[in-house]
Amino acid sequence: MVQKPQIVRTLAPLRKAIAKLREKHERIALVPTMGALHDGHFSLVRQARKAAGAVVVSIFVNPAQFAPTEDFASYPRDLHRDVTALSKLGVDLIWAPNDAVMYPEGFSTAISPGGPAKAGLEDAFRPHFFGGVTTVVAKLFLQVAPDAAMFGQKDYQQLKVVTRMARDLDIPVTVTGCPTLREKDGLALSSRNVYLSPAERRTAPILYRVLKNSAARIKAGEDVATVMADGRAAVEDAGFSVDYLEARHADTLAPVKAAGDGPIRLLVAARLGKTRLIDNLGIQRT
Ligand code: PAF
Repeated sequence: MVQKPQIVRTLAPLRKAIAKLREKHERIALVPTMGALHDGHFSLVRQARKAAGAVVVSIFVNPAQFAPTEDFASYPRDLHRDVTALSKLGVDLIWAPNDAVMYPEGFSTAISPGGPAKAGLEDAFRPHFFGGVTTVVAKLFLQVAPDAAMFGQKDYQQLKVVTRMARDLDIPVTVTGCPTLREKDGLALSSRNVYLSPAERRTAPILYRVLKNSAARIKAGEDVATVMADGRAAVEDAGFSVDYLEARHADTLAPVKAAGDGPIRLLVAARLGKTRLIDNLGIQRT
């Protein structure tokens, strides 16, 4: 059934709408997004539906998490398309503030996350990123006051950073990581996949193939450093420029030297032409 969600763009109507949802529902789940929604986001919405009686989706392309050299201006935006898609999923409320609502004149407070935000992965290449993410996500948590919030495991370090931030700031929300959705050829769904040329799109699934192959080799007992070096070479041979390809502890994100140091998560970020792709994969324990 198509139920058009309420769309709010400023804080006073948001507070009223949240209060109304609270009257009817014991639990509210939030799915924070930057729009350009795809099946990965829709699966987060479905998880949110299972976790709570009311579902709020935020759509805000957060300038604070982009460096001046990054794609803030060109980031795909299509609110009309996003709202149409969310209408089919039984979303109750769409919170779509603009920059002036989120960061009004004089805004001067920011969160400075540590711990998993300093693991030497995304933070080493995008030093501004997690400060921007945690600041906006903390605001979203305070604005919507959700009981649960859904984040994709595709942004694995982000998931860890947001979980830590909510815990450290005593924000009473359960942060849930939801599995990555993939194209048939293994490419992780991402709003940035639209930047890939047809030739790059054919190359892009190599990332997942290398993660899978590396995971299988480590599980079979091969030396972690050798496997990661081979994986990096395979990704570079395919035409990527690799920011990192690392084996890390799945909980702490600390570097691991041997399978026994796990549980292990393999994480990769690499650029193909102008597009930067990230992906990750857990190694199942036997
Ligand atoms: O993962 C994203 O889309 C963004 O980083 C988030 C969590 C919505 C914060 O802007």
